[in-house]
Amino acid sequence: MKALVLSGGAGTRLRPITHTSAKQLVPVANKPVLFYGLESIAAAGITEVGMIVGETAEEIQEAVGDGSQFGLKVTYIPQEKPLGLAHAVLIAREYLGDDDFVMYLGDNFIVGGIADLVEEFRTNRPDAQILLTQVPDPRAFGVAELDPSGQVVGLEEKPQQPKSDLALVGVYLFTPAIHDAVRSIEPSWRGELEITHAIQHLIDASAEVRSTVIKGYWKDTGNVTDMLEVNRTVLETMERRIDGEVDEASETIGRVVIEKGVRITNSRIVGPVVIAAGSEVSDSYVGPFTSVAENCRIADSELEFSIVLRDSSIRGVGRIEASLIGRHVEVTPAPVVPSAHRFVLGDHSKVQIRS
Ligand code: G1P
Repeated sequence: MKALVLSGGAGTRLRPITHTSAKQLVPVANKPVLFYGLESIAAAGITEVGMIVGETAEEIQEAVGDGSQFGLKVTYIPQEKPLGLAHAVLIAREYLGDDDFVMYLGDNFIVGGIADLVEEFRTNRPDAQILLTQVPDPRAFGVAELDPSGQVVGLEEKPQQPKSDLALVGVYLFTPAIHDAVRSIEPSWRGELEITHAIQHLIDASAEVRSTVIKGYWKDTGNVTDMLEVNRTVLETMERRIDGEVDEASETIGRVVIEKGVRITNSRIVGPVVIAAGSEVSDSYVGPFTSVAENCRIADSELEFSIVLRDSSIRGVGRIEASLIGRHVEVTPAPVVPSAHRFVLGDHSKVQIRS
């Protein structure tokens, strides 16, 4: 069995974070979301991975390399334009050969991995197996309709009037039966060859399409609250580890991960918190469910339930909560006179000021 991992696409939904970066590299607890997917593929006993890449190919290749850091053998398959998930299967035809495969969308996060699902698929070997999860707004997803026995009777891509609240999760298990299906469909209104339509084609041809409903799923839908929430879920599973320097005036409580090369002075860190290499925290409080990426400076400030990406600094600004702070960002106090807020905000930024 092989894996086909999709890491193309532009990533408009988490802007401004993904203006300059691949959406699959958005960090969850300081690790790119894509890495959790690759780790769970390896944990399911799969080693051969075809990676579909698009305009962010360079960045993805730099992060993943040949896959050996995950125990995988990665082959890159360039997709010249984002022409759809079924198009990705089409261009991977030669790589996939006649093997069964798991197709994994690199921006999806599945709590608990996929080992059990892959095992179930190997045992029963239906023509295809899809994953579903309940979501509050199914219109942003592919949506499944099930009959009372739980059998999938229909799939629709981003319907205006969804027939259920069960969204298609971005992990699909296929036998080679999918290859004929992806060749048989036409592009959708958004000009893409939809995998949803290819699976519907299998259903129409009376192929066996099984579904499993899962809990614990995240995908970037542009919603920072969701991102903070998935970050929290992962931080809660971390074990305490202090490899950096913590001075005597500081205190670290609970699930705190301080990487090597971090310096904490005169501060209080209350977990779950992860602070990445090269960062410094001084005269500050860092509270639960916070991730601080590489080379950040936090001074004279309080930070809680937030994500700070690399090379950013926060100095002397009081308390920050429920925030997503990008890379190379500076947050500093304004001069007392004149009393005014001063901003340099990128496109699609969101700021909340206490007035
Ligand atoms: C794609 C699929 C959709 C699925 C979603 C899961 O959507 O077309 O059916 O629910 O992935 O991530 P897209 O990311 O292309 O909008």
